[in-house]
Amino acid sequence: MLIAVEGIDGTGKTTISKYIAEFLGKKGFDCVLLREPGDSVYGNRIRNTKQRLKPEEELELFMLDRVEDVKKNILPALKEGKVVVMDRYYYSTIAYQGARGLDAEKIRRLNEEIAPKPDLIILLDADPEVVLKRIKSRGNLTPFEDFEYLKKVRKIFLDYADDRTVIIDASKPLDEVKEDVKKILCKFLNFKKDSD
Ligand code: TMP
Repeated sequence: MLIAVEGIDGTGKTTISKYIAEFLGKKGFDCVLLREPGDSVYGNRIRNTKQRLKPEEELELFMLDRVEDVKKNILPALKEGKVVVMDRYYYSTIAYQGARGLDAEKIRRLNEEIAPKPDLIILLDADPEVVLKRIKSRGNLTPFEDFEYLKKVRKIFLDYADDRTVIIDASKPLDEVKEDVKKILCKFLNFKKDSD
């Protein structure tokens, strides 16, 4: 089972991904929590670059990082029957690099050729105005955290929501978001049990 947590910056993805892994762990599932960009040389290059790269260069690095993550971490864990929880996955590439003017549909196709499709996508959705206030109160903004840019990113995330996506209002207090996530997981696990 592969679960992806997606959304614009500042929506609480990391906290919620950890919460999901803990919750499923308590239910007896063997869980692996991964984040993208990952710890590959490409992922580190992305994180350590102070100003933004050209969109094509950025896309290439995110793709190389993902190819490695799929091969080294995601597929082996799935093969061992583990639940993989992703703190960002390829919908982030569709949305973030798509918002820089690259062809979002092409990015989706490229990714679905190299990466397994998630069974469940939890899209933490919030207005960029709300998240930017949150991020500013925590410290400095990164080059990705720009209002007009995040508005475009959010729109693409919402445009790409499909029958595997559950959209959650992440502007609510964290405890309420966790409650919503818990309900979704319980519903999803029951659904899986019935369909197995
Ligand atoms: P993080 O804030 O989740 O650590 O991710 C760092 C930034 O990388 C974040 O602003 C979103 C961006 N990003 C992309 O632009 N494309 C991608 O494919 C991924 C995974 C992240």
